[in-house]
Amino acid sequence: MTDSTSRKRVLSGMRPTGRLHLGNYMGALYNWVRLQEEYECYFFIADIHALTTDYADPSKIHQNTMEVALDFLGAGLDPEKCTIFVQSHVPQHSELHVLFSMITPLSWLERVPTYKDQQEQLRAKDLNTYGFLGYPLLQAADILLYQPHLVPVGQDQVSHVELTREIARRFNQFYGRESFSLPVAANAEPKTIVLPEPDVLLTPSPKLPGLDGRKMSKSYGNFISLTDDPAVVVQKMVKMTNGGQRIVQSDPGDPDICPVGDMHSLFSSELIDSSIRRGCREATIACENCKISAGGEIVRHLKPIQDRRAIYEKDPSLVIDILDKGAAKAREAAERTMTVVRSAVGLGRSLHDVTVEPQWIESLHRGSKRTYDLSTEENWWNEENDAIRSRNIRGFWLSQALPKDIVLREDSPRVFITASRKRAIVTTSRETPDTVWQFDLVPKTYEFLTLLCWGRDRLLRDFVVPQKIYVEAWNAAKRLDKKAEVHFSVIQEEENFFLVMPGVEKASITEFQSAYELLQ
Ligand code: TRP
Repeated sequence: MTDSTSRKRVLSGMRPTGRLHLGNYMGALYNWVRLQEEYECYFFIADIHALTTDYADPSKIHQNTMEVALDFLGAGLDPEKCTIFVQSHVPQHSELHVLFSMITPLSWLERVPTYKDQQEQLRAKDLNTYGFLGYPLLQAADILLYQPHLVPVGQDQVSHVELTREIARRFNQFYGRESFSLPVAANAEPKTIVLPEPDVLLTPSPKLPGLDGRKMSKSYGNFISLTDDPAVVVQKMVKMTNGGQRIVQSDPGDPDICPVGDMHSLFSSELIDSSIRRGCREATIACENCKISAGGEIVRHLKPIQDRRAIYEKDPSLVIDILDKGAAKAREAAERTMTVVRSAVGLGRSLHDVTVEPQWIESLHRGSKRTYDLSTEENWWNEENDAIRSRNIRGFWLSQALPKDIVLREDSPRVFITASRKRAIVTTSRETPDTVWQFDLVPKTYEFLTLLCWGRDRLLRDFVVPQKIYVEAWNAAKRLDKKAEVHFSVIQEEENFFLVMPGVEKASITEFQSAYELLQ
């Protein structure tokens, strides 16, 4: 499989309406099964969405969720290739929805075409609720939480993805931060995009008629279920309308306007399809035989789906396990987005997560450790040019972290002179996969090593390390070769940080985190 980071991400969901029918399959699942081969896919069962219409009687939602999960797996979604989960198992959906509700004008929701349509269609239910109006907003949260590139949906859902894009734009307008003015990568956005806008991937929805010729739909009762027995499928097909043609069987027909003909186009081999079409036009095949043949072809398609489904039906713990693992993975992805979202909105989990305005840093943090949240600077983290990346981090540190009353004069790009004429080198490192920060420096005379360590969790810690800590290693290196770089690193063990230098014991530098007073 391709590395997940290099593949585009895809997300889609389905409401748990019970066992799926052929229409649901051809309109969505059939495509999803193909997408999982190429993309990093998240597919979920939207059980909270089911509550928006079924809040008065939620008793079936649980069972229906299981049925849809079985159909997902039966259809061939493979938990090794995609992430399958249940919406309510990932509470971040609700959290993001509530934040979106703050910024969404009512008129945006009222004008979504499905709002009025559905209310009309489901007259029996009282849908004058806040939750129902917010349906597409919950969908926007579902989507933006995973920052997908593509959202495969049918035509009926395009307006919801459009709204999602508008919400992302509005959110970014309000909460995308201005990039720091000092050092910015050449390709940086003028505003940090917190939530990228996804594109619709319009799934080809072939014409799949129901038994009565209208669109196949659960509410019309004109469907063939993915779980129908072969005999039932054929029985249903025999009753399918032929569009009112060939009342006298010796009349020729037109298979292009016959719903049974549409079924053949979708499910039959070229050979069978062309032979029944000819038979229909020449009136050499009876409608009943044509229908039985279509039924047989559908049964052939359903067989592998039903066989796979049966394995999971026999052992539901397999399904539960897949959904649990899927939810755990989804929560991780969702939490990555929410960490950035909360901080952008100004809701930190702890005060340490809040980026404190520079003027406050001094009074709040003099003498205490500071950890800076750079999660909104994802473009810096991903910047592969070391020089640009370091410049950005150093610029951030100088302009946002260093207390304003500490004046450093730049001597050369990384070396600064303090007010008391001491030399400090300010150097940066990005955490490696083995959780260390590596540095290389020529052992020149610096009174301080100021090490800016940017973690994979996007938190930045800074250490102002005084000479006494590293002088021994420095001198040893100088004796060997004055001009060669010393390779050293910072490592973390629990809450403590250590400097690891060649030839000497590792030294704790925890107490020097944010020790700005040394630079006075
Ligand atoms: N509203 C979609 C439907 O009725 C289901 C859905 C919920 C969805 N959340 C989603 C689809 C997010 C795509 C992405 O079919």
